[in-house]
Amino acid sequence: MGSYEITLIPGDGIGPEITKATLAVIEATGVEIKWEKQIAGQEAMPEYGQPVPNELLDSIRKNGIALKGPITTVIGKGFRSANVTLRKELDLYANLRPVKSIPGIKSRYEDIDLVIVRENTEDLYSGIEHVIAPGISQSIKVITALSSARIARWAFNYAQKKGRKKITVGHKANIMKLSDGLFLDSAKEVSRDFPEIEYNERIIDNLCMQLVMNPHQFDILLLSNLYGDIVSDLVAGMVGGLGVVPGANIGDKYAVFEAVHGSAPDIAGKNIANPTAMIFSALLMLRHLAENEAADRIFEAVTSVYKEGKHVTRDVGGEADTTEFADAVIQKMEKPVKAST
Ligand code: NAI
Repeated sequence: MGSYEITLIPGDGIGPEITKATLAVIEATGVEIKWEKQIAGQEAMPEYGQPVPNELLDSIRKNGIALKGPITTVIGKGFRSANVTLRKELDLYANLRPVKSIPGIKSRYEDIDLVIVRENTEDLYSGIEHVIAPGISQSIKVITALSSARIARWAFNYAQKKGRKKITVGHKANIMKLSDGLFLDSAKEVSRDFPEIEYNERIIDNLCMQLVMNPHQFDILLLSNLYGDIVSDLVAGMVGGLGVVPGANIGDKYAVFEAVHGSAPDIAGKNIANPTAMIFSALLMLRHLAENEAADRIFEAVTSVYKEGKHVTRDVGGEADTTEFADAVIQKMEKPVKAST
């Protein structure tokens, strides 16, 4: 077991509450981590005058890895999203979102086991927007062959490494023939190098309908930035909601692990948020560090708390608060658990 220096961004809204719970769970694994705490978003504005301070970027460049809580982006005005900036600045081009049913959480479906791979740097998130004339605004959707092929290759390599069988690309190339057409063509070309992995395409609206009607037909979904953002929340709703779905932003040099959900201002400051999504994001981080035994222990403990159902949070039908859930997980970890493979 190694010891690590990792950048920590607690974020705002429910961020600090779920971060506290997550750090306690990580500590219970015994993996030694020295956290380098950094701020971003609105919190960073008074001191640094920008939502993503250079200190934060330098810290991640030095450590290679960060664990991040959610950061609020004000709607319709204000500075550019700290999340989008971070992903672009560090070229974290792959957004990985595994979505798996957890026994014990009541949801509309059982045995969901999907992975969303979302391109994280382009598309309508390029931030190129302007007012052409009063009453007419324009946003530019940027898709490049290089980034499309890069994310497709990442997804196929991931599928190969994890023994997954099928990749489905979601697109709207019937309407956006050039931009989505390029994303699609790039993915198709990369797929030829991986004949053992089934390759499919679905128009995005049909994909959404089919996900709701028959989600088990899918394995990995490869999506451009905006579709990936939307479909991740849709799929999270199939397994119990945003409170339980983890994520990771991965590039060739750096990785930032964070839940799919946002800062949840409606429940912030009440210690009632579900920390599972962030705990599972930390689990992905531990796997990235090859700390598989610690990751397995967290997984066993969390799933065992859900199976028992006594200490789960309100969003999934329980009454426990954030701290009670984390304490229950830690208590399970103190007992010997069988490590899965
Ligand atoms: P949200 O994900 O914060 O909340 C949507 C709904 O899910 C809310 O009802 C919330 O209470 C619930 N929810 C989310 N996480 C939960 C948890 N851990 N436990 C229990 N319930 C949970 O999405 P919303 O409201 O659209 O966005 C709020 C802010 O978060 C916005 O400023 C947005 O820009 C930002 N955001 C930040 C992200 C990030 O930092 N990576 C990702 C998504 C949104």
